[in-house]
Amino acid sequence: MDLQFGNPFNLMQWAEDNAGRLKPPVCNAALFPDSSYIINMVGGPNTRTDFHDNPYEEIFYQIKGNAYLNIWDRGHFERVDIKEGEVFLLPAHVQHSPQRPEPGLCFLVEQTRPLGDLDSLQWYCANCGTQVWRAEKQLESLVDDLPAIYKLFYARSDEERRCPNCGTVHPGKDYSAWHAQLKARS
Ligand SMILES: [Fe+2]
Repeated sequence: MDLQFGNPFNLMQWAEDNAGRLKPPVCNAALFPDSSYIINMVGGPNTRTDFHDNPYEEIFYQIKGNAYLNIWDRGHFERVDIKEGEVFLLPAHVQHSPQRPEPGLCFLVEQTRPLGDLDSLQWYCANCGTQVWRAEKQLESLVDDLPAIYKLFYARSDEERRCPNCGTVHPGKDYSAWHAQLKARS
């Protein structure tokens, strides 16, 4: 019997067969590309400096390895650890920055976005929490659309990444530098 999305398959075998797509720089591959859910396997290691605002919930199942989310919540940076074996439901519109310091596997469930429901990415000054840059996007592909916005931010000059409040230059894609700034502040 030929089903629309194929027959049941072994998830870990799929991860093994697609291991190349789960490594940097992409780290992310769709299990059912034409479904009305967005179901992705996310690998690693991968660290980021952007904070993602999804108009819908996200469900994380951390199958292998430990990960955490940096959260921007009402003026404060917070951290939510998602350890190997744990599941987590992130409410809609909670700005989050997934960090995967070690190789791993995360089963990530999202919802396709109806026309008009935009995602946004924002970057914050690690020193004072002021927003440095923000972009909105009608999201069609998790794998392609967000990296296109990262590139726009990374291409901005130091002056354009300078915090308008305290003058600290946002280090762009240099996550370790951004994290060091955040640590120095707390
Ligand atoms: Fe600042």
